[in-house]
Amino acid sequence: MQRCETPAALRAALAGRGGRVALVPTMGSLHAGHLRLVERAREAADVVVASVFVNPLQFGRGEDYACYPRALEADAAQLGQAGADVLFAPSVETIYPHGYPPATTVQLAGELVDSLEGAHRPGHFTGVATVVNILFNLVQPAVAVLGEKDYQQLCVIRRMVADLGLAVEILGQPTVRAADGLALSSRNRYLGAVERAVAPRLYQALRALAERLTAGQRDFTALERQAVAGLRTAGFAPDYVAVRDPQLRAPAERGPWVLLAAARLGGTRLLDCLRVGAPAVNG
Ligand code: PAJ
Repeated sequence: MQRCETPAALRAALAGRGGRVALVPTMGSLHAGHLRLVERAREAADVVVASVFVNPLQFGRGEDYACYPRALEADAAQLGQAGADVLFAPSVETIYPHGYPPATTVQLAGELVDSLEGAHRPGHFTGVATVVNILFNLVQPAVAVLGEKDYQQLCVIRRMVADLGLAVEILGQPTVRAADGLALSSRNRYLGAVERAVAPRLYQALRALAERLTAGQRDFTALERQAVAGLRTAGFAPDYVAVRDPQLRAPAERGPWVLLAAARLGGTRLLDCLRVGAPAVNG
């Protein structure tokens, strides 16, 4: 696996290889969920580029940018084993070469970015859309693979690609979980032993909600409230539990649905998502 830190080195690495390029954008501190994305990229393209960049623009004030876990050497070893051809690990100065914050950003408008994560993390999706757009420009992939765990992020990137006419196919990959159901996340390493034991209850709450929907309950607001109350009892500080349609609009009576939840457990903010019914998005 070739390692690159600059656009020039990346261009040189890609120039020597022909075929379809897939990009797996990450913030590093990799786990089996990230590596599954690399495997999917391997199936979808000839050349797999994984990027590792902790993007300051998508962290709010008071969030964990400074202490976000960084493990580049371990990441490189894992990516090589998973079959990545190129690791692109740029610095902040490389991604934002004319000063930080950049003068130009990619900002989406509307309910898709104002709701759920957008409501709790103002500016977050502008940071995500901007850096993903920069990475697309530098790598010029034919396909990019993203996780459904961050379902709203996946929808936002699909929408950006559609609105800006970008020639990138977006593939969504199902969430990889620990044996007890907890969605793998780089932030799970913040959890203490007691918190780690409680954390799978977030997924259990979504499963219970899914069962109620499958059993025919349709008072979506009541179901959301019930799930929030259950999480509070379990020791979480929930930001939201939401039932939506696959495009994150208001849910339809007959489904399919996407269930989304965000909750803090101690100092760690956990996110999860569960599809109910037909596949939510293609890919
Ligand atoms: P990061 O949190 O590192 O996640 C990188 C990719 O891995 C995202 O597409 C995310 O949805 C996916 N992912 C994380 N946990 C997963 C799991 N348990 N199963 C399957 N996929 C999983 O998301 C970001 O970084 C950033 O916002 C980024 C898109 C790189 C832009 O900076």
